[in-house]
Amino acid sequence: MSETNHVWRLRKRPVGDISDDDLSFEEESIPEPADGECLFRLNYLSLDPTNRIWMSDMDQYMPPVAIDAPMRGVVCGTVIKSKNTAFKEGDIVSGIGTWADYQVASPETVSPLGDIGSVPVIDAFATLALVGPTAYFGLLDITEPQAGETVVVSAAAGAVGSIVGQIARIKGCHVVGIAGTDEKCQWITEELGFDQAINYKTENVAEALKRTCPNGIDIYFDNVGGDILDACLKLMNLKGRISTCGLISQYNATEDVPGPKNYPMILMQRLKVQGFIILDYVDRYPEAISALSQWLAEGKIKVRLDVIDGLENALDTVKKLYTGANSGKLMIRVKNV
Ligand SMILES: NC(=O)c1ccc[n+]([C@@H]2O[C@H](COP(=O)([O-])OP(=O)(O)OC[C@H]3O[C@@H](n4cnc5c(N)ncnc54)[C@H](OP(=O)(O)O)[C@@H]3O)[C@@H](O)[C@H]2O)c1
Repeated sequence: MSETNHVWRLRKRPVGDISDDDLSFEEESIPEPADGECLFRLNYLSLDPTNRIWMSDMDQYMPPVAIDAPMRGVVCGTVIKSKNTAFKEGDIVSGIGTWADYQVASPETVSPLGDIGSVPVIDAFATLALVGPTAYFGLLDITEPQAGETVVVSAAAGAVGSIVGQIARIKGCHVVGIAGTDEKCQWITEELGFDQAINYKTENVAEALKRTCPNGIDIYFDNVGGDILDACLKLMNLKGRISTCGLISQYNATEDVPGPKNYPMILMQRLKVQGFIILDYVDRYPEAISALSQWLAEGKIKVRLDVIDGLENALDTVKKLYTGANSGKLMIRVKNV
């Protein structure tokens, strides 16, 4: 085992877009696990829009990363030393860790990936650790889609959105995806089976929604907030449901973000608008993993991974999420397992 650890540390809170001097990449010694902990080597690091939230001190659902602390991330690693009977050497674990080659963990932060059958570790981690369950519970639990209803999804070619749209199709809904390039629009309609797609960078979204949702919108799965949320609110049907999964259009905002103009539609149309954080559903993960694994095996859900090699590239790579330069689940590969 290499004697050197590499660790990304948060040095200051980004203002607007993440910049190169917000984090630093350090050579450090490898930590020793205390009693009750294990030491694992990083295999894959998931890069997620919430990384920008954790870097900031905005009101959030976990404490922000402290200045000078290792950057927090969703990780997959291999246990190389254990002082806890919950882990043994060679176990593949996943959970919340840091942007570091070697890290100590406890059962409160990571757990064994478990039986993934013949599914490669990278695919299981990419889809089942975070984004698949987010799509599953955020759509099915919060909005309860019924066959024939119209579902609109934003960031529809992204990791969560692409799975949301496919689950909605499995449930028999009319599905419209909103994405930022023609290639992404083509992928979700031609490969993933979405009924329609809207390129929000080249089309008038309000007009395009009227054309693609002739019966109005029953469910809006919101990954972005902002103008797209407003355009969807305007077309919501009576007793419609909005699942507030993410607000990526405002994570880099430097000024107060205006509220939605069409907020009164929540009253007029008796809408249910509910936010959620996937951590709320940890106890129900087996349900999502079982359904998603079956749909993946049957080819009913397809995923696209955007994998970049080398932990040293994490900072440049995470920025892709906020420009739309990623195609599919964005992650760093440190070691293939
Ligand atoms: N609630 C939870 O527990 C939970 C868990 C995981 C993720 N999330 C949220 O789910 C959303 C999607 O996450 P993900 O991991 O699947 O990322 P992703 O969709 O794979 O990547 C983010 C995508 O957002 C789009 N985007 C970026 N800036 C935008 C803007 N200003 N307006 C509209 N679209 C924009 C880009 O696609 P285009 O090319 O289409 O612009 C980009 O590719 C995020 O908001 C994230 O915070 C929430």
